[in-house]
Amino acid sequence: MKACPNSAILKFFNSKGIHIDASSGFEVQRAMSAGIPAENISLSTQELPENFAELVKLGVNINACSVSQLQRFGEAFAGTGQKVGIRINPGTGSGGFSTSTSGFSKTNVGGPASSFGIWYELVDDGTVPDIVSKYGLTVERIHTHIGSGSDPEIWQQVASKSLSFCKVWSTVETLNLGGGYKVGRMEGEVTTDLQKIGGPVSDAFRQFAEDNDGRELKLEIEPGTYLVAMSGALVSTIQDKVSTTGDGSHTFLKIDSGMTDVLRPSLYGAVHPMTLFPGSGKTEEIGMDTEDVIVVGHCCESGDLMTPKPGEPEDLARRTLRKAEIGDLLVMDGSGAYCSGMSTKNYNSFPESPEVMVDFEGKPHIIRNRQPLEEIYHNEVDVPEGLY
Ligand SMILES: Cc1ncc(COP(=O)(O)O)c(C=O)c1O
Repeated sequence: MKACPNSAILKFFNSKGIHIDASSGFEVQRAMSAGIPAENISLSTQELPENFAELVKLGVNINACSVSQLQRFGEAFAGTGQKVGIRINPGTGSGGFSTSTSGFSKTNVGGPASSFGIWYELVDDGTVPDIVSKYGLTVERIHTHIGSGSDPEIWQQVASKSLSFCKVWSTVETLNLGGGYKVGRMEGEVTTDLQKIGGPVSDAFRQFAEDNDGRELKLEIEPGTYLVAMSGALVSTIQDKVSTTGDGSHTFLKIDSGMTDVLRPSLYGAVHPMTLFPGSGKTEEIGMDTEDVIVVGHCCESGDLMTPKPGEPEDLARRTLRKAEIGDLLVMDGSGAYCSGMSTKNYNSFPESPEVMVDFEGKPHIIRNRQPLEEIYHNEVDVPEGLY
C-alpha cells in the first residue's frame, strides 16, 4: 500500500485477490475505507496505533515489529491465544541504492543499522518466546523484509534464515518474506527474476516440510514496487529553461512538478527514464537534436533535482534528451511506486496533482482530482484574539 495508496489502485488489486500490506494505522483505516476487508490487511508498522486491539478484533493481521509492540499486544490479549505475527530483523539487509560504510542505506531495512523488526538474537536468546508464552499468544506468521531493490543472493540467504525462525513456534503457518524485488527502470538495470529467486526458496520450503513431519508453510510476499513501479508515469510540462555559463555551468529544464510528486531522485538518487513530447497545440515534431540538461523540479530547493547522479542525491548528472522548449511535455517513467505515495506533498503550497488510471482499452479515468489550494490550509486554526 505504501508504494501506491490510491483507493482505485487498492480496489483493483483487491479485485485480483491481492491483499494489502499497511505500514501505519492510518493506512489500515484508509484501506478499510476503500472497502478492503480487514482480514485482507496486514500491518507491519514502526508505530503501533493506539487502537491496534480494535483493528485486531476487526480482523486485521498485525506483525509485532519490536519487543515493546509484542509486549503491548500481549497485554491487550493476555490469555486469549490471539494470533500474532512477528517481524524479525534477520541480521542482514540489502537495499538498492548506495550504501555508506556504516552499513546504512535509506532503502535497507535489515541488519544492525536498521531499526525495523525484532533483532534476531532476541528470538534466539528466549526473550521473544518468553513474552509469547507469558501472554499465551499464538505466533502464526514470521515476517522478514530486508530492503528494497535487494540483492537476490542476500534475499535467498535471508529466506533460509527466516525458515529457521518458523521452527521456534510449531503454530507458525506462514512465512512472509516482505518485498524488495528490484525493478530495473533504466536501460542496463536488472529486474529481479522471480522464477530465479523463487526456485531455491520453494526448494527450501519443501525441505522444511520434509524435515518437520510434513509441515507445509504458506509463503507470503509483499512486492509493492514490483507490481506498480512500471505502471505509472509522471507527465509534466517544461515551464522554464535556463542556462548558466562558466565552470560547472548547465542548461536546466524546470518542470511543473518535482519532489512534490516524485521524491525518489532527491531522496535516494533514484534515476528514472525521461522522454520529451511536443507541448499540446504544437504541430511540428520535436527535432532529433539532443542536448545535455539537468532536469529540476518546481520547489524552492536546490535539492529538488530530477536527474541526480545515480545513488548520489547530492550530485547533478546531465541527461541527454531531445532539445526541448518551454511548453513541451516531459514524461518520467517508472513512477508508479513510492512517487505519489511518498512525496513532499504541499511543499511550497503546490496542490496535489491529479491522478489518472488508464484502463486495458487505453481509456483514461481520473482517480484523483487536482487538490484545491484551500484544502492545504483548511485545518489551520487561528489563535485567540489579542495574541498578535
Ligand atoms: C514490510 C514491508 N513490506 C513490503 C515492502 C515493500 O517493498 P518494495 O516496495 O520494495 O517491494 C516494504 C518496504 O520497505 C516493507 O517495509
